[in-house]
Amino acid sequence: MLVEVRNLSKTHQSPGGGAPVDILKGLDFELEPGGTAAILGPSGAGKSTLLNILAALDYADSGTVRVAGLDPAVLRGNELVEFRRRTVGMIFQMHHLLPQCSVIENVLAPSLADRRQARVNAETLARELLDWLGLAHRLDHRPSELSGGERQRVAVARALSGAPRLLLADEPTGALDRANAQQLSGLLLELNRARKVALLVVTHSRELAGKMEQVWELQDGKLVKAS
Ligand SMILES: Nc1ncnc2c1ncn2[C@@H]1O[C@H](COP(=O)(O)OP(=O)(O)O)[C@@H](O)[C@H]1O
Ligand SMILES: [Mg+2]
Repeated sequence: MLVEVRNLSKTHQSPGGGAPVDILKGLDFELEPGGTAAILGPSGAGKSTLLNILAALDYADSGTVRVAGLDPAVLRGNELVEFRRRTVGMIFQMHHLLPQCSVIENVLAPSLADRRQARVNAETLARELLDWLGLAHRLDHRPSELSGGERQRVAVARALSGAPRLLLADEPTGALDRANAQQLSGLLLELNRARKVALLVVTHSRELAGKMEQVWELQDGKLVKAS
């Protein structure tokens, strides 16, 4: 399995000092290499918390989490940097691009500290991805000069610039109009097929969810099959 989650529990402290809130309560999940899955569920259900744990941006309180055989919670220093680039990539509802940097600079930012040959390889892959995402003519534009759909596609290129095995997408089409949402959904699936990158997509869109091999719903701290 590429992703294996067993009996995962997570409690968030209340910001106001109130009682802690159990968000994930013994959740199980698996995803095969190259597989696709959607997670549906109401706002506040814990969907982002789960993705953040898989991306080593947050940690579980108990249970087992493995991504490509690694426990994200124990990675430190360079291992953590490498994990976030070469094992998982992540995109969000908002693009989080650097406003002062061009498209190509944004996509190459994660590889700036690489050695020379790795940097050359990263640049080749970045140009290939941007070309493939229909952005070859936008390389020197700043994010403010792009449409919402184009910005989100740049975020996809950046997330995939380290050739990760898993793309985590947290409501990736939530801020897009219908046409751009459909285009992005189609591109994510083509990337899955062409590059064998596994997809785990949190979405409120039944249409996007329906394109994934597995559809799950996050209910009362657990994942249940929705279809
Ligand atoms: N870092 C945090 N500290 C405290 N509470 C949090 C934190 N992150 C999320 N929460 C709370 O946990 C619950 C689940 O949040 P989240 O995972 O963002 O849900 P979803 O993505 O399904 O909308 C929410 O009630 C949210 O307010
Ligand atoms: Mg969320």
